[in-house]
Amino acid sequence: MAGFLSEELEKYISDHSEKTGLNEQSLRDETLKLGPPSAMMSGDSVGNFLKLIIKINNCKRILEIGTFTGYSALMMAAALPSNGKLITCDVNKETSEIAKKYWAKSPHGSKIELHIGPAIETINNLEGEFDLIFIDADKNNYSNYFEICKNRLSKNGLIIADNVLWSGKVLKPEDDQAKSIDSFNKLVNGDNEFWNTIVPIRDGLMIIKKRGK
Ligand SMILES: C[S@@+](CC[C@H](N)C(=O)[O-])C[C@H]1O[C@@H](n2cnc3c(N)ncnc32)[C@H](O)[C@@H]1O
Repeated sequence: MAGFLSEELEKYISDHSEKTGLNEQSLRDETLKLGPPSAMMSGDSVGNFLKLIIKINNCKRILEIGTFTGYSALMMAAALPSNGKLITCDVNKETSEIAKKYWAKSPHGSKIELHIGPAIETINNLEGEFDLIFIDADKNNYSNYFEICKNRLSKNGLIIADNVLWSGKVLKPEDDQAKSIDSFNKLVNGDNEFWNTIVPIRDGLMIIKKRGK
């Protein structure tokens, strides 16, 4: 999703932030050629923020819900240590092929494990805990993803969900997706077991952490 800030400001932010590598840039360029669906790619501000979280929280095991063309997965994998693992899942085989092409060219690609299939099924078949769970797939399932992921966090583990402002439509939710995201935001905020905050990076990131750890 583009257009959250003016193009001028987006460029300024990009010019004054950590640069992505050539492989990431090529992946971004190929994704942009897909036209409107390319708006699903989370981009550099989100990618750099996730990298920071992974580094300061010493994340080793990450789950991503929603691979698309693999941009956020590649960004996150680059911040993982060499023995780190990122499990990502998607239902779309075609866009996953684009992802695999660029992961194969990256020294960090071997840290990424792709599962094709509906996320809920995939997660239920996975064992173990995660240091970071990045939710970025079908918005109508955000609340379900929270419910099945909230007990899968390691000590200090975080859930981060993208697009929680849904271009501002959460203020007056009318369509199904806006309503689902608004319900998710209310569900998380009302869960006393968890601490949460919305960070207004791009389309809004919800950061969720278990209390008392
Ligand atoms: C917003 S995109 C992910 C973007 C990616 N994280 C990035 O930043 O480049 C959402 C993806 O979720 C996938 N998706 C939709 N429904 C799904 C489901 N039930 N299970 C897994 N993936 C799903 C779509 O195929 C799409 O590729």
